[in-house]
Amino acid sequence: MSNSLSNNGSFRMPLLAGNWKMHKTVKESLSLVEQLKKDCREVKDREILVCPPFPSIVAVKESLQGSNIKLGAQNLFWEISGAFTGEVSGPMLKEAGCDYCIIGHSERRQYFGETDQSVQKQIQEGTKDLKEEEARRLVIAYEPVWAIGTGKTASPDQAQEMHAFIRKNLTALYGKETAEQIRILYGGSIKPDNIDSLMAKPDIDGGLVGGASLKSEDFTRIVKYVAYAKI
Ligand code: PGA
Repeated sequence: MSNSLSNNGSFRMPLLAGNWKMHKTVKESLSLVEQLKKDCREVKDREILVCPPFPSIVAVKESLQGSNIKLGAQNLFWEISGAFTGEVSGPMLKEAGCDYCIIGHSERRQYFGETDQSVQKQIQEGTKDLKEEEARRLVIAYEPVWAIGTGKTASPDQAQEMHAFIRKNLTALYGKETAEQIRILYGGSIKPDNIDSLMAKPDIDGGLVGGASLKSEDFTRIVKYVAYAKI
């Protein structure tokens, strides 16, 4: 399959990530992952990720044992521990079984006073000592704010242009070889009927999916997007 073959031929494993935001109680989370496990069980050539709210993390992790679905959280604070009421740290999430964590989502800035500066501090502090092999594990999500939850999506060409621009910046930061391996996801009103054309673009390596990740049927169709040769 030719999807996610970058220009220099290196393979980037497509990543389809469900950002559940503030949806689903523990019970509802478990019922969604039970269904997703069944619906997606034969998927092998793509990475599948769900990011439930904090209270569901441990139960969802247990339910995902032995499956092909990974677990992420939706936010963290950069300190390891301390008097920071209401916050959780990376080591806590890691021990709870998270493989990924979203940071700097635009809704954090819109509703919770996070600033470019504080997010940047997280990214800079968190990435300044990264070795190249660690930088390769970063995933960047490009989400035009006007496309989030609005039903409006960037056209595949618009998204591709931004993704190529981001990769150019990553090249300046980490060098070409590493930048070619970092996955850049598109996000903002991804739906079953627009994922195929987005994924056909060479620098779009997956999707960060909000609303459409809350129903197994829709998210499964997104995970099982039809892969065309990258154009
Ligand atoms: P949406 O959200 O798919 O509901 O637009 C995407 C996101 O904000 O991660």
